[in-house]
Amino acid sequence: MTRVVAVDPDRPDPEIIDQAAAILRSGGLVAFGTETVYGLGADATNPEAVARIFDAKGRPPTNPLIVHVADIDRAIDCVRAWPEAAALLADQFWPGPLTLVLPRSHLIPDIVTAGQETVGVRIPASCVARELIRHAGVPIAAPSANRSNRISPTSAAHVLRDLEGAVDLILDFGLCSVGIESTVLDLSGSTPTILRPGAVTGDQIAVTIGWPVAHFAGSVGSSQVAASPGQLAVHYAPRTPAYRGTWSSLASFNPDPGLSFGTLVLGEPPGGYFPGALRSGRLDNPAIAATKLYDRLHELDDLGLDFLLIITPPDDEPGWLAVLDRVRRATRPWDSRTGEP
Ligand code: TXA
Ligand code: MG
Repeated sequence: MTRVVAVDPDRPDPEIIDQAAAILRSGGLVAFGTETVYGLGADATNPEAVARIFDAKGRPPTNPLIVHVADIDRAIDCVRAWPEAAALLADQFWPGPLTLVLPRSHLIPDIVTAGQETVGVRIPASCVARELIRHAGVPIAAPSANRSNRISPTSAAHVLRDLEGAVDLILDFGLCSVGIESTVLDLSGSTPTILRPGAVTGDQIAVTIGWPVAHFAGSVGSSQVAASPGQLAVHYAPRTPAYRGTWSSLASFNPDPGLSFGTLVLGEPPGGYFPGALRSGRLDNPAIAATKLYDRLHELDDLGLDFLLIITPPDDEPGWLAVLDRVRRATRPWDSRTGEP
């Protein structure tokens, strides 16, 4: 049975937080809102509890989990090295949507890191998340609270839809403000490398550490024990076939008139809404698009249409990197589709 309890995002009821923390300490699963997306939490130091996360999500055991902590000292407990860059970034961006990948300490069991020698850690900005972690008194492993390969949840309703019955308690604090997952930065090698773009940008990181930052390019096959499994080519797909295209690449868009579809327009395109679409929405700028993207995709997905079409700004338009990364993983180019639709 899954219980859903509403909590105030700024002043969560301590009694509820205590109950949730007790569930975590006894090996259960609690979903909670963070500023990025809802997480599916378990005690990171308890391998059996962490195994329940993989079961609930249907997640391949090769994909490591992010460990969430409530303060910098607890983050340092989880790692073997705390380089200057980590200290500068933690100071600047924590609590917030940045995950640092560092060599793991003995505190973090194999199952959390998929056997790798590194661990991803972050302090989430949401007060509910930090209070929960503090009361639990242990680091909390928490991937996004969706079934593997589905869209991340930005509301408690999204979590319930994917994980009803598989999670003990959902702390419902309303909608996530950032709306896409944290930036993942690998600090374990010689060059700081962004494995997953997010709200904290490469430029911001480079300025903070005074050192250039690399971007992991390309995607890896699903069978590999990947350096960053989040880089899988199609990772966050809706159930409805979903396509993308820029306004200009869709100039000759001419679907079979018998097919129903909905569109989501990102940015400020030359045209307005798309002809023929049963349902059309528009997200004007990158920050709004990040906050609303998954919610809109969930909504469109629920309509039972034949396909979805996301109209994107050109690749070189600044500010869209993180949102376009998620759109690419959720869709295929309209031009490259084969078969119907
Ligand atoms: O915003 C977020 O990061 C959310 C909230 C709940 O904190 N969590 C989240 O977790 O997105 P998940 O499991 O859905 O995505 C974690 C990403 C995956 O792409 C995973 O491969 C990568 O982080 N990751 C985790 N540990 C890693 C490690 N040691 N090395 C490389 N990549 C790692
Ligand atoms: Mg995820």
